[in-house]
Amino acid sequence: MPSTTEQTIYLSDYKEFSHFIDGVELTFQLSPTKTRVKSKIHFRPNPKAPEQAFFLHGEHLKLISAHIDGVKISPTLTETGLTAEVPTGPFIFEAEVEISPETNTALEGLYMSNGMYCTQCEAEGFRKITYYPDRPDVMATFKVRVESALPVLLSNGNPGTSDEGIAEWHDPWPKPAYLFALVAGDLIAHSDSFTTKSGKDVALNIYVRPGDEDKCAFGMGALKRSMTWDEDVYGREYDLDIFNIVAVDDFNMGAMENKGLNIFNSSCVLASPETSTDANFERIEGIIAHEYFHNWTGNRITCRDWFQLCLKEGLTVFRDQQFTSDMRSHAVKRIDDVITLRGRQFREDNGPLAHPVRPESFVEINNFYTATVYDKGAEVIGMLKRLVGDEDYKRALDLYFERHDGDAATIEDWLKVFEDTTGRDLTQFSKWYSQAGTPRLSVAGEFSDGTYILHFKQATPPTPGQPVKDPRVIPIAVGLLNPNGDEVRETCILEMTEAEQSFRFTGLSTKPIPSILRAFSAPVILERQSSTKERAFLLAHDTDPFNKWEAGRALAKETLVAMLTADAPVNSDFLDALAAVLRDENLDPAFQALALALPSQDDIAQTLFDAGVTPDPMAIYTALETLSQSIAQHLQDLLPRIYAANHVDGPFSSEAAPAGKRALQGAVLGLISRLDGGDQARAQYAAADNMTQQLQALACLLRIDRGQTELASFETQWAQDRLVMDKWFGLQSGLAAPQKAAAITETLTKHAAFDWKNPNRFRAALGGLTGNTAGFHAADGAGYKLVTDWLIKLDAANPQTTARMSTAFDSWRRYDASRQGQMIEQLKRIQATPNLSRDTHEMVTRILG
Ligand code: PHE
Ligand code: ZN
Repeated sequence: MPSTTEQTIYLSDYKEFSHFIDGVELTFQLSPTKTRVKSKIHFRPNPKAPEQAFFLHGEHLKLISAHIDGVKISPTLTETGLTAEVPTGPFIFEAEVEISPETNTALEGLYMSNGMYCTQCEAEGFRKITYYPDRPDVMATFKVRVESALPVLLSNGNPGTSDEGIAEWHDPWPKPAYLFALVAGDLIAHSDSFTTKSGKDVALNIYVRPGDEDKCAFGMGALKRSMTWDEDVYGREYDLDIFNIVAVDDFNMGAMENKGLNIFNSSCVLASPETSTDANFERIEGIIAHEYFHNWTGNRITCRDWFQLCLKEGLTVFRDQQFTSDMRSHAVKRIDDVITLRGRQFREDNGPLAHPVRPESFVEINNFYTATVYDKGAEVIGMLKRLVGDEDYKRALDLYFERHDGDAATIEDWLKVFEDTTGRDLTQFSKWYSQAGTPRLSVAGEFSDGTYILHFKQATPPTPGQPVKDPRVIPIAVGLLNPNGDEVRETCILEMTEAEQSFRFTGLSTKPIPSILRAFSAPVILERQSSTKERAFLLAHDTDPFNKWEAGRALAKETLVAMLTADAPVNSDFLDALAAVLRDENLDPAFQALALALPSQDDIAQTLFDAGVTPDPMAIYTALETLSQSIAQHLQDLLPRIYAANHVDGPFSSEAAPAGKRALQGAVLGLISRLDGGDQARAQYAAADNMTQQLQALACLLRIDRGQTELASFETQWAQDRLVMDKWFGLQSGLAAPQKAAAITETLTKHAAFDWKNPNRFRAALGGLTGNTAGFHAADGAGYKLVTDWLIKLDAANPQTTARMSTAFDSWRRYDASRQGQMIEQLKRIQATPNLSRDTHEMVTRILG
């Protein structure tokens, strides 16, 4: 049983808080184990919420004293907060509490990381700092005073007076407590400035630990690009005199959008060519944009309650995806996003953890920062934009910002601005927010007398708590090609609203080849019977880059499924199609690299399971190896030429074009390594002057079970760099051959640099193993057992990260009886752990179902 009693919170129980807050003053006297927090809160009764007892959240706080209007009180304290008798009119509540940041290993509330103080308050961490109505609909202006001998003292808003050991900060924008932040440390600033469109100067700083100052320039550039883009595309300007970013080594998530003081996992902001891969650069740029964009979508307009989390996260992910597309390549970004969506969200939506984009109940809100809320939440906005069109989307967003600035809003508010702008009724559309599960969309085509008819059917399988699903509004982007590859019908959006629906195209001279669900216009699983010939045709000719890639992906999947279920040989049409893609000099190298990549083991496992076949992880691994080997042999003559042609000269640039060439080189190197025993990879490793190529080469070697010399020299070279060492850990557990994966991971956990309390390091080593599908699911159960041992150990220190990583077991239903039995046994072992956290208990209970 969990230590804190489990209580389910329901959306339908929402009630306003009893009071408004007219201002908050906080003083922090920082000390590692005895930090004093003094608060002064100006409360005023909320006439719409009468008769409610006055309750403030508070957890793990040592109350020193409390006063109301200057009179000492003795409030009633419980495990979750404080109640007190309060005057009927406005009053001032004051409290002094003591907390211990140094012993806070959960990394929620005020904690320490390498000698620096920092906070993480979303979702419900502020209650670990002081007594407060810790809910997003209670917004207030904050004045903060920080007292500490450390040189850099930061909080939200604009700086006030500061003196030796004292700094004051005033945040003029009312905000909920989850956006509060404080940082104190011996930090160095990388500074710059930005002038907004209306001519306001904003000071920009990225604060890092000494030694990291040479890794800030890229992040600063990304921040400025984000600020410009949000002005240009959404008309949103920044609203304070200063914008600070701080890099922290110990952080549960990627980054946090605290008002004017974004706090980042150092892995999501620090970048240099020597230590960061191209993928790291792109991700850092995207996350900096994401957190910056939250200033409007999240902070200025926040969420009424945590059920509305997708209001800020879905929209902000959608915005950061648009940004990255604009900075780099629309086609490549869309393909990347769909790969992520299928890998994480579809898996979630088709397993025991499936939940609606807007859930209706939770035990621990931290467990709902999910791919469904974030990534499906973004897809839902993409569909809305497709349905109403770009112009109306823009008008609706303008209305949203105008109408709701300063509000704690709901999904109903969000949909209403679209209804008011367009006159559409979005009742059916809103089911995308309330019903979980991935719709299956099947289609058949029929041609006669110049008319082509597409017959669609949709159905969504049941999900936990939702046995029956209604038809959704599905925007299906369709184009038609004729047999010589010309587009005879440009992309149009078919708006499907029924369970079964047909659409006709008239006036065609020949039977067309349809390109369906272009740009992945809806987050559904498209089931379409098609010939190898037709898929190869679309891979060669589709004018929609997503569907061009998708045709290749479908071919790869069909080949693998046939190998696994019918003992079929490798499909040579697929190999020829790949060769054609590689030879096509008009294609973007980044696209070619994506076309060469095969579906993941997990993707194949889910595909088989959906088709009623029990996946064998080892067989999947072997089939992928066989297919890769065949591809390498088939493309043998082409590979050296492509490798050489994509060589990038000159100083390193992280921009899309050179990064795309390196991606293609890396994909080709993987194939070459299967033929030459790793000679070329060793040469690339030795010559590499950037992390992208160094890591690519090392990964290629590990995949063919070589590279021990390089692993050792990598370790020597990078022993002092935490972020690079995370890669060293992750690569080994992630790429270990299946039979050895658990043993290799176990050895890694005994390495002197395995600091298990650091979430990045823990995720690198153990997350590497859970991502190594055949290794994690090795028949002897060693992977399951090792991961479970470590989850149980971590839970006592860090419930959030433990709960998140327990999702590795959420696919147990797919597998054979022996694996199921072993996974259930481990889940039950976690569940039975004394004092298990509420976070992890909720997760394993839901996973067991
Ligand atoms: N709100 C953060 C983001 O999406 C994520 C986060 C959630 C970070 C909870 C920390 C804790 O940008
Ligand atoms: Zn976010």
